[in-house]
Amino acid sequence: MTRSQTIQKTSNMDSPSGEFDPSRLPAHIAIIMDGNGRWAKLKGLPRVEGHAQGMQTVRTIVEECSRIGIHQLTLFCFSSENWKRPQPELDFLMQLLECYLVQERPLLLEKNIRFSTIGRKEMLPDSVQHEIDETIRVCRDNTGMGLCLAINYGGRQEIVDAVQKIASLIKEGSISVNSIDESVIKRVLFPSPALMNRLSLLR
Ligand code: FPP
Repeated sequence: MTRSQTIQKTSNMDSPSGEFDPSRLPAHIAIIMDGNGRWAKLKGLPRVEGHAQGMQTVRTIVEECSRIGIHQLTLFCFSSENWKRPQPELDFLMQLLECYLVQERPLLLEKNIRFSTIGRKEMLPDSVQHEIDETIRVCRDNTGMGLCLAINYGGRQEIVDAVQKIASLIKEGSISVNSIDESVIKRVLFPSPALMNRLSLLR
């Protein structure tokens, strides 16, 4: 699949006349990184090869999304459930993540990409935490597309964090129980994407 076919498959961004229309782009796209293992199996390769190939696909997606003017791209790359994988695969994934952060920093700077993460960083190896912090540091003045990596992220965990934040806001007197409404919930949750896709469908 070519790059432009990938983008077109992502969403209907064509005007009624069939031309690419940037005003129809979703502001926030989220992609669940999956299918690496299935891709490798199809090719008769070890699973880890699928992860390495997934990293190349991520580079293409990041470049294309930045080029066409997406405001925010979130990649769900490692969920809190993924810790159940065999240790050698986990070691490989953490190394790959570290390698991705180091290797892609020049691209993020060149393309003026803002960088952030969500998820519980403190459970990641020190070296990965260090490269995340370093990437945040070098990209801090960027103003273009936002790239957010969800690493060690879990939906329930996000709800727990959100409830704790609301409880703190009540405790410090910033809000009352009766004033909890959708706008408060929105403030404490990660911004919802306009389009959610799976990497396995984009290959
Ligand atoms: C899911 O595919 C993929 C992953 C859990 C790996 C994600 C990659 C990293 C954490 C390292 C690199 C990070 C970036 C941002 C490039 P799967 O193994 O579940 O495959 P399947 O769906 O075919 O089983």
